[in-house]
Amino acid sequence: MSPYQSAIGIQDLIREGPGTFRVSGRAYADQAIFDLEQERIFLKTWIYVAHESELREPGDFKTAHLGTQPVIVTRGDDMRIHVFANRCVHRGAAVCRERSGNARVFVCPYHSWSFDLTGRLTGIPGRDDAGGYGPDFEQPEGLARIPRVESYRGFIFACASDDVVPLETYLAGGAAQLIDRKLAQAPAGTISLRGAPFIGVYQGNWKFQAENIVDGYHFMHTHRAFVSLQSKYGDSTGDFGVHKGDNAAKMRRNRMLGNVLASRYGHGINQKPTPDLESLFIGNYAAYYFQLRELHGEDELKWVVGAGAGCIFPNFGIIHNQLRVWRPIGPDLTEVTIYPYSLDGAPDSFNEGMLRSHERFYGPAGYGATDDVEVFALNQQGLAATLSDWIILERGMHAETVLPSGEIEGRPSSETVHRAFWRRWRELMSAEPEGSHV
Ligand code: FES
Ligand code: FE
Repeated sequence: MSPYQSAIGIQDLIREGPGTFRVSGRAYADQAIFDLEQERIFLKTWIYVAHESELREPGDFKTAHLGTQPVIVTRGDDMRIHVFANRCVHRGAAVCRERSGNARVFVCPYHSWSFDLTGRLTGIPGRDDAGGYGPDFEQPEGLARIPRVESYRGFIFACASDDVVPLETYLAGGAAQLIDRKLAQAPAGTISLRGAPFIGVYQGNWKFQAENIVDGYHFMHTHRAFVSLQSKYGDSTGDFGVHKGDNAAKMRRNRMLGNVLASRYGHGINQKPTPDLESLFIGNYAAYYFQLRELHGEDELKWVVGAGAGCIFPNFGIIHNQLRVWRPIGPDLTEVTIYPYSLDGAPDSFNEGMLRSHERFYGPAGYGATDDVEVFALNQQGLAATLSDWIILERGMHAETVLPSGEIEGRPSSETVHRAFWRRWRELMSAEPEGSHV
């Protein structure tokens, strides 16, 4: 055990036994724990950095983060994806200030050292001047490369450590199935991110968002204003819709369908079959649904067009028609970026309707996302009361099934998914810094 670990006592932060699963409030609030998370989680495991629809052409780039570490993601002339540190090798300035764009070269704003699409250093102004660099100058090759970059069906992940399982192994099971089912909603089998992402910051720990995106328990409570509006005015979103349901009773019933699934590497998946498949074949988009039925068969279609959400450990989520990244900034500060997407090959008006519906719940003036963010801040405020330390994450623990795959299946509002997240968190956080983590 390293001295750092014993000082923090990772094992003491989670109390697990038969029927018991509790997490110390300190795990969300302590600066030393936050720092250790950066080292042992965000630099050691796969982190989602981009979707391929953001990087279609050579020269397309975006900036992203591995935890608190800024990186640049590019599409090179060789069409390969490159990820490297957004930190100039000269005196450390962030080389790229934009969130996304297309470039041939990245020129550092400070002294104009330049780097190509693979991060290679290609120019130093005044390098050979009399007062420049001498003959023995050890010129760096370029921006620090992130060694592992892999993609699963257009979802691009990077890992700062070479010592990590292949991405396909990492996502195997529920996470890959969720991505597959989301893509199966698109007749073309692909999605395209659209518009500018919606970016917000909340005053709470990053793990609150990881837990919440698959929290089947909170919806009818945290979002009760939305639920009561829905029950008063009914559903007016047509054949698509976020949280579609004619009234509160039906919404409550629908939320009890399906299951949650906890995967080996800490991913949590929440899947509900659509309750009324037949109605889709007589609605405005019947042709689209017939097309999907042809492609996937009726049994699978129930799940494809049902509601699915997932927390891909540690900070990537998929819910409804959006991808979501939550970026840790400090123990009590987190940035959330929401990317709505279109289904390639679906009718334009269907995609438009999905976007309007998304805005209605998740947009800056939407009914729902603000409720969650307020609760995250309240979570953080409540944790200041250290007289009561333990957070209870035991819901549904007595009603779980271990599947042959090793994944754990729970009831829709069970905290099975949260326990999977925390077990993985404990595993990574307890490991020696130089050790093997997966
Ligand atoms: Fe980048 Fe000087 S810090 S060129
Ligand atoms: Fe919510």
